[in-house]
Amino acid sequence: MRKVKARTPVRSSPFKQLLSYARPYARLFSGIVVLVVIYNLTQVIQPYLVKIAIDRYLLVKNSMLAPLIQIGVMYLGITLIGLLANLYQTRAIAAAGQKIVRKIRIDLFTHIESLAMDYFETHDTGRLITNVASDTTRISQFFTQFLLSVIRDGLTIILVMGAMLLLNWKLGLLSALVIPIIIAISLVFRPRLHKIYNTTRSHQSRLIGFIAENLSGMRITQLFHQESRQLEALNQLNLPYQQANVNEFRWDVFFNRTLDLLGNLAVAFMAWAGGLAVFHHTIKIGVLYAFISYIQQFFEPINSLTQNWNTLQSSMISFERVSQVLATPRTLTDPEIPVPLENPEIFRQTQGAIDFECVSFGYTPEHLILKDLTMHIAPSEFIGIAGETGAGKSTLISLLARFYDVSSGSIRIDGIDIRTIRQKDLHRLVGVVQQDVTIYSGTIADNVRLVRDQISRQQIVSACELTGADAFIRRLRQGYDTRLTPNGSNLSAGQRQLLAFARIILFNPKILVLDEATANLDALSEAAVQEGLAEVAKNRTTIVIAHRLSTLRSADRIYLLDHGRIREQGTHEELIALKGLYHAMVLNSVVMPASQEAWRESAHTSKLSAT
Ligand SMILES: Nc1ncnc2c1ncn2[C@@H]1O[C@H](COP(=O)(O)OP(=O)(O)OP(=O)(O)O)[C@@H](O)[C@H]1O
Ligand SMILES: [Mg+2]
Repeated sequence: MRKVKARTPVRSSPFKQLLSYARPYARLFSGIVVLVVIYNLTQVIQPYLVKIAIDRYLLVKNSMLAPLIQIGVMYLGITLIGLLANLYQTRAIAAAGQKIVRKIRIDLFTHIESLAMDYFETHDTGRLITNVASDTTRISQFFTQFLLSVIRDGLTIILVMGAMLLLNWKLGLLSALVIPIIIAISLVFRPRLHKIYNTTRSHQSRLIGFIAENLSGMRITQLFHQESRQLEALNQLNLPYQQANVNEFRWDVFFNRTLDLLGNLAVAFMAWAGGLAVFHHTIKIGVLYAFISYIQQFFEPINSLTQNWNTLQSSMISFERVSQVLATPRTLTDPEIPVPLENPEIFRQTQGAIDFECVSFGYTPEHLILKDLTMHIAPSEFIGIAGETGAGKSTLISLLARFYDVSSGSIRIDGIDIRTIRQKDLHRLVGVVQQDVTIYSGTIADNVRLVRDQISRQQIVSACELTGADAFIRRLRQGYDTRLTPNGSNLSAGQRQLLAFARIILFNPKILVLDEATANLDALSEAAVQEGLAEVAKNRTTIVIAHRLSTLRSADRIYLLDHGRIREQGTHEELIALKGLYHAMVLNSVVMPASQEAWRESAHTSKLSAT
């Protein structure tokens, strides 16, 4: 048997991976750096201009107005340049950040879409929603806040430090003393903050998961009067989330105010030390002014850098979680050298023979659902599958559509192992209609056409006529242009089913599978669909799974599945004559419609009597 190997992507550090997303925007980022340099220079020049004004033109015997005005105009000009540079830099970085995140979101979504069904069964949807929606937003802050801060604030620190050393190297060195203190403080806070951020994020995704699950199961909640219980459950998640947020906020404020305090102490110290120096005439008063401005400027970027250190932490956590999803290997991979079914000629030649060869399968290795099952289906045959609830009928179809891989044995279409067919091609070959139909928001025509734009209105109408959907659609005021609500709640289950038939007819697969697809239809519609089906089934292999065994009467062969094994096979008549399990099931189901009628009747009368 051919083993299908899963490809495991090579993982580098999350930081490097994240930077690799920025690589296509290298030019944009260099432009941003230029703007940042211009902005920072204007910030450093401003106090220096004031210093010149004070020392050279104000505190002298004959102060002159003309050079003061000149300096004023220069100051204004520089402020304007700084403003523009800042404006463009902020805009450019936001645009770059959003572009990068858009790419990450697309990669993430594409990867999630390609994962096998078992991933969705073992992973919480709410968590995935958090990954795609909010984690990616937090990642964008890495670029828009952290990266910008590193460039801008790093440069400010260097420039301001340089200016201070140039003005007076002794005072400059004294000011540099605060740097190790700030680093020490953030070293103390950092691990704690990291842990706190992590806690808040996981509380958040648990809460979102719960809400997502509840919204989709609202009907059940209301039917079973579970509102107050669910509210209680929500509270159990909401309270720790609230506490975690408050805690996060508290530590954030504590950390930032500690830094603020340090900043103010440094200014006070500078005023004292510098004041003494002015008093002893070692420096001029303008230099002191410039120093006090610089030390304030000096604190801002250090503070912002440490704050953005937190941004780095939270975006790294988010990115780690996103890259965990991205690194989930695909358990079902396309073959390296696939059967070239994208070639229309080869595709057309497909006959639709299906062979299940000694297939065993379990959702978990210890519990087999299908056991050593062999079935040979010839092209264009009409096959019925019967069996009690839980016998493994739908599982068999999931294997044919390769939502899962067989545990052992093989499934072949026209003698080709389906593991050597690309998923995309396989899903064009095998069309499945299930009992629950997915309806997307859009018109009826959109829902029949799906995304296949080349399908004309006329084709849609003919397909609907064939399935009998046309009759009910024409009765709607806007006909084929009636807008459907998401989930199709403004249609009955049977009407949704008829649309699904029309959809699959247009899809025109070589192999058509109906899994309990007529269960929602009343007897009349079912008869109509049966008639249409006979037409549709003519040139393709058709597999019909049904509890209502009358549906299978015209099948070429019926397989009766029991606990994952084939118990009986043959035509309807042969199986009846066998007087086995199938016969017993037919006998059981004969009384069903009658009793259902009786039940409906009695429900109707009781409703009437109640009014
Ligand atoms: N995704 C899943 N994960 C784990 N077990 C599953 C999964 N889907 C089905 N099963 C189990 O596999 C068995 C067969 O299920 P399957 O859906 O194939 O039955 P079925 O014959 O289609 O039943 P029904 O007539 O009710 O649709 C059941 O015992 C079910 O509990
Ligand atoms: Mg089923």
